[in-house]
Amino acid sequence: MGYGYFEYFDEEGAQMYEWLVRLRLFEWAYRIALRELEAAAPRGSRVLEIGPGIGRVLELLERRGYRAVGVDVSPAMLRRAKRRTSADLLVGGSWRLPLRGAFDAALAVFVLHHWGDHSSSIDSVARALRPGGVFVVLEADLSRAPAAGHGCTPECLRGALEGKFDVEVKRRWPLLIARAVRR
Ligand SMILES: C[S@@+](CC[C@H](N)C(=O)[O-])C[C@H]1O[C@@H](n2cnc3c(N)ncnc32)[C@H](O)[C@@H]1O
Repeated sequence: MGYGYFEYFDEEGAQMYEWLVRLRLFEWAYRIALRELEAAAPRGSRVLEIGPGIGRVLELLERRGYRAVGVDVSPAMLRRAKRRTSADLLVGGSWRLPLRGAFDAALAVFVLHHWGDHSSSIDSVARALRPGGVFVVLEADLSRAPAAGHGCTPECLRGALEGKFDVEVKRRWPLLIARAVRR
């Protein structure tokens, strides 16, 4: 343990992301992720968001009555998240997530493709969830929308998750939505 994969968002990167979110560029995708989560975990559930960035999804989760915790490697992103949400925010990596078995659900929106070798992070998400807990992953579908640049193929997403989870991957252009239930 003690190592992991991520793409670093420094102060400049965080500022750029803030503008993209303020322009509501990703709002449609956030709503799709939340709909998937709501179908899997009732309001009031404890949710771990991995890589919440500047916290727009945490803000929406909180409004819906979820008890959320966000873990992100970038202090610059989390400083901005703090202005949006009162969810607990922790600086850390997907490969070493806190609070074993504490969460009913986990969420990763446009984050998993940053993880490089996925296995240590997927193991760590599985440990943070209670048995039967659900991990919702949203990514751009590179097999249908290669211009997105960052994302996954359905095979890559399924392959990353299926060691620890029962996985269903849905395609909704230009997105992939995985619903993975911890075994
Ligand atoms: C493209 S941004 C997406 C932010 C947010 N999920 C959204 O959709 O608005 C990716 C975020 O994941 C974080 N990140 C990347 N790799 C990570 C890892 N291995 N563990 C935790 N956070 C990570 C980055 O710091 C960044 O905030």
